Amino acid sequence: MEGIISQETIDAVNSQSDIVAVVGDYVQLENRGNQWWGCCPFHHEKTPSFCVTPEKKMYYCFGCHAGGNAITFVKEMEKVNFPEAVKILAKKFNIEIKYSSTFAPSAQKTDNSKELYIDLYSRVADMFHYGLLKTDAGKFALEYITKRGITMETIEKFKLGYSPADRSWLKRFLKSKNFSDEFLAKSGLFSKKYPDVAFFSDRLMFPIFDRRGQTLAFGGRFLRGDPEKSPKYLNSGDLIQYQKGETLYAFNFAKNSIRENKKVIFCEGYMDCIAYHQCGITYAVAPLGTALTDDQIKIVRGFADTILLSFDSDGAGQKATWRAILMCRRQGLTVKIIRLHNAKDPAEIMLNFGADTLTNEVNSAILDSDYLLSFLSQKYQKDTPEGKAKFALEFFPYIDALQTDIQKESSLELLGRTLNISLEAVKRDFNNREDVKKRTLSVNTEGQKPVSNGVVVNSEFRALLAVLSDTNQFELMQSRLTEDDFENPSARTLFSVLKECYESGDLSFVSVLNHCNHDGIKQKITESVSRGEFSQCTAQSVAESVERLQINSLKRKRKEILQQMNSLQGQLSIPANQELMTRLFEQKKLIDEKINNKGLEYGSGTGS
Ligand code: UTP
Ligand code: MN
Repeated sequence: MEGIISQETIDAVNSQSDIVAVVGDYVQLENRGNQWWGCCPFHHEKTPSFCVTPEKKMYYCFGCHAGGNAITFVKEMEKVNFPEAVKILAKKFNIEIKYSSTFAPSAQKTDNSKELYIDLYSRVADMFHYGLLKTDAGKFALEYITKRGITMETIEKFKLGYSPADRSWLKRFLKSKNFSDEFLAKSGLFSKKYPDVAFFSDRLMFPIFDRRGQTLAFGGRFLRGDPEKSPKYLNSGDLIQYQKGETLYAFNFAKNSIRENKKVIFCEGYMDCIAYHQCGITYAVAPLGTALTDDQIKIVRGFADTILLSFDSDGAGQKATWRAILMCRRQGLTVKIIRLHNAKDPAEIMLNFGADTLTNEVNSAILDSDYLLSFLSQKYQKDTPEGKAKFALEFFPYIDALQTDIQKESSLELLGRTLNISLEAVKRDFNNREDVKKRTLSVNTEGQKPVSNGVVVNSEFRALLAVLSDTNQFELMQSRLTEDDFENPSARTLFSVLKECYESGDLSFVSVLNHCNHDGIKQKITESVSRGEFSQCTAQSVAESVERLQINSLKRKRKEILQQMNSLQGQLSIPANQELMTRLFEQKKLIDEKINNKGLEYGSGTGS
C-alpha cells in the first residue's frame, strides 16, 4: 500500500526539477538569453513558438497557449495522472518519494488521509441534505429548487442540500463529532483565514461525487442576499481528495449510460446536468466550474466515441464550444453540437417545455463541422476574396485537429464547397497556412489582442500582472485595495487569486497557477511572464497604479451615487427619500474630498 504522495515530495519535485532537462527529453531546445525555444510538442508547427523559462520553472507555447510547469508537462506528454507524473520526475531527479499516510507519524497520518476526508464530506453532505429536506431553515432552498422543476426523486439522487446561514454551525457540529482543528483546517470546508467560519453558507449545495459515488467536494449556489457581493456559485478548490480538472460532475450516474450509448453530453454546470438526467438523458456530465480539460475528456474517451457539446449560445459559450471541439477532435472523438431553441439552457427547456422537447434537441444535434461552417458563414462575407480567406484561416485549426487524412480531406472538400473554391486551392492554402496567416492578418493582429478567452487585459489587469510573484509589491497593493476596487471581472478574479496565494504565504508563480481556476487568466499569466513583461516592476510604479486604481474606483462609486440621486429627484415628497438623499449627498461629499486629496498626492489624478 503506497498511500498519498506527501506535499513535501510534491514541493521538492516542483522546486528541484530542471524544466529545461524535462522538456529537453522530448523537444529540441535552443538557448536564447535566459529562455529556451523549440517546436511545440502539443501542436503541429515548423517554426519554434514554444518557450521554456527556467527561472520561472515554466513553459508556454505562443501558438497553442499550452503552458505549465514540469509536472503538467509530464502529465501531458506521458498521458499520466498527477501522482504518476510526480513519480516520474522524482525518479529522474533522485528525489525520495514520501507518502503521507504510510510513513508519517500517526497524527499526520489522519491529517492527510484521503479516505478520512471522503468520509468527512459524506457526513457533511448528509447533514446538508437533511437540512434541505427536514429543517425550517432549509424550506426556502427547497421551495427554490422545487420551483425550478426539480423532483424529490432527483433531489434524493443527487443528494442536494442546504448549508446553514450560521457560519459557525458546521465547526461546532464537527467538533462535537471529535474531528480535530488541524484536520478540519485542511478540509476546504472553512475559510482559510478564519478556520471556524464555514466556507459555504445559506446556499443550495451540490455534492460532487467521484466515479464510485463517494462525495469529494461541493458546489454551492447563491440563493438570496446581495448578488453583487457573492458569486453565483462557490466551488471547492482542489483538495487532497479532489482535483477538479480531473473530475466530471455526475459521471458516477452517467457512466453506464455513456458506455451503452457510446456517447456523452458535456454541459455547462450542475443545474443543466441535473436537468438532462431528470429528463431521462442520463449520459450527461459537466466540467466543474472551469473550462473543459484534457483529463476530463480522457475520463470518457474509453466509453464513448461521440461527444455532444451543450454549452451556452452566448459569446463565452461559443468560445468554449470552439475550444472543446478542437480538444475532443485531437483525442480522436466525433463531436456534435446541441443547439437549443427558445431557451437559454437545458434546465430552462425542461422547466418550460418538458423532457420530450429536450430529447428532441439532443437528437437534432449537428456535426461540429456543420456548426463551425454555419458560424463562420455568419461571421464573414463569403462572397468576397478577403472574406473567404479569413473564413478558411479560421477553419484550418479544426482540420488540424482531425486525426485522419480521410477526415482532413473531406473537411477540406466541405470547406471548398462552402466557399465555392476548388479543393486544390483550399488544399494549397491549408498546406501553407502559416504563411497565408502572416500575409492575411499582418495588418491588424495587434489591434485584436485585448480579449482572449473572455479575459479583458486592461490597465487594471496589467497592474496585477506587474505585481505577480513579487510579494513585497503585492503586500502594498492588497493593503490598499479590495476586490471591489476593480471594475474588470478578469482583474477581480486575478486579484482574489493573488490574495489567496499571498495569505497562504506562497505568491510564487507555481502557486498562483495552482490557485487559479480560470484557463484564460492562466494563459495570460504564462504568456506575460514568458514575454518577460513587467520584469522591472518598481515600488514607485506599483504605488502609482494603486493610486490610479483607487481614484478610478472612487469615481465609479461617485457616478453610481449621482445616478441614484438623479433617480430620486422626482420623488422627494416621500420623507424616506429625503433621508436617503441626504445620506447620498454626504457620501458624495466624502468621496469628493477623497478624490481631491488623492488628486493632490498624485499629480492631476486623472486615470483612464
Ligand atoms: P451558469 O451561470 O450557467 O449556472 O454557470 P447554471 O448552472 O445554469 O445555474 P442556474 O441555472 O443559474 O442555477 C454554469 C456553471 O458554471 C459554474 C458552475 O459550475 C455552474 O454550474 N459557475 C458559474 C461557477 O463555478 N461560478 C459562478 O459564479 C458561476
Ligand atoms: Mn441555468
